Amino acid sequence: MGRPVNGNIGNPNTGSLNTRSSSTRNGGARNGIISSFRDVTKEYTTGEVVVQALRGVTFDVYQGEILVILGPSGSGKSTLLNILGGLDIPTSGTITFRNAEVTRFNESELTRYRRYSVGFIFQSYNLLPDLTAKENVDLARDLVDDPLDSLEVLRKVGLADRADHFPSQLSGGEQQRVAIARGVAKNPELLLCDEPTGALDFETGRHVLKLLKDINTEFRRTIVLITHNAPLAAMGNRVLRMRSGKITDIQHNATPADPERIDW
Ligand SMILES: Nc1ncnc2c1ncn2[C@@H]1O[C@H](COP(=O)(O)OP(=O)(O)OP(=O)(O)O)[C@@H](O)[C@H]1O
Ligand SMILES: [Mg+2]
Repeated sequence: MGRPVNGNIGNPNTGSLNTRSSSTRNGGARNGIISSFRDVTKEYTTGEVVVQALRGVTFDVYQGEILVILGPSGSGKSTLLNILGGLDIPTSGTITFRNAEVTRFNESELTRYRRYSVGFIFQSYNLLPDLTAKENVDLARDLVDDPLDSLEVLRKVGLADRADHFPSQLSGGEQQRVAIARGVAKNPELLLCDEPTGALDFETGRHVLKLLKDINTEFRRTIVLITHNAPLAAMGNRVLRMRSGKITDIQHNATPADPERIDW
């Protein structure tokens, strides 16, 4: 049985439920930094063509923040997120997570990192077609020590009555919400979200962003969120802008907006 999800935004008990303290598991965050990129590049070679997806990217992710990543299509956002999540390996540069250097991890260390420390909400949903919505969510929960309750998270994304449906019986937006529920239910220290509202209408997207904000506020989870919707940047503590594989700007936002008050 997973931990319930409390729906209150701005809960004054922030962090009190964070029993899986990352500082005990992985060593403390240095200067509040959970992860760092230093001069990271990524080249993809396909036949004769070399694409420089990342051209020397340096930034930090702070413990407990929402970091929004904005940038045009093809600017390297997903590449950056995949590398941050240990799904892809950079061509050069250094990545750290807490006191460990991810770029020096061997296969089993990378697997542990992906399993225990990060969670993904993918741009393509990656649901298993032979499992129901609830089973897809359960699968992620089974990997970790203190997941959230699957049905409750499905209820939060508005799919309580679709828990026993298979992906082929769900609309594109509903599949995206199952993928969101899966990422959230795992309750990882670092939740990486690639366009989580891309296939959703405005109101449903808003519910999803509120859920992410709840996770951030109540469980002090760190969230990196890619979006094409510039107005959504207002919900981030910081906004990182990318163009052609480079970071063009990192902006600090003193008063992040409540997702329920943002129009886009
Ligand atoms: N596996 C791959 N092989 C070859 N090129 C790739 C691969 N993955 C990404 N690229 C290229 O790297 C560049 C950055 O891609 P990426 O997916 O990171 O962009 P993005 O900013 O996420 O775009 P979008 O907003 O469209 O999702 C693009 O030019 C893309 O074509
Ligand atoms: Mg992308």
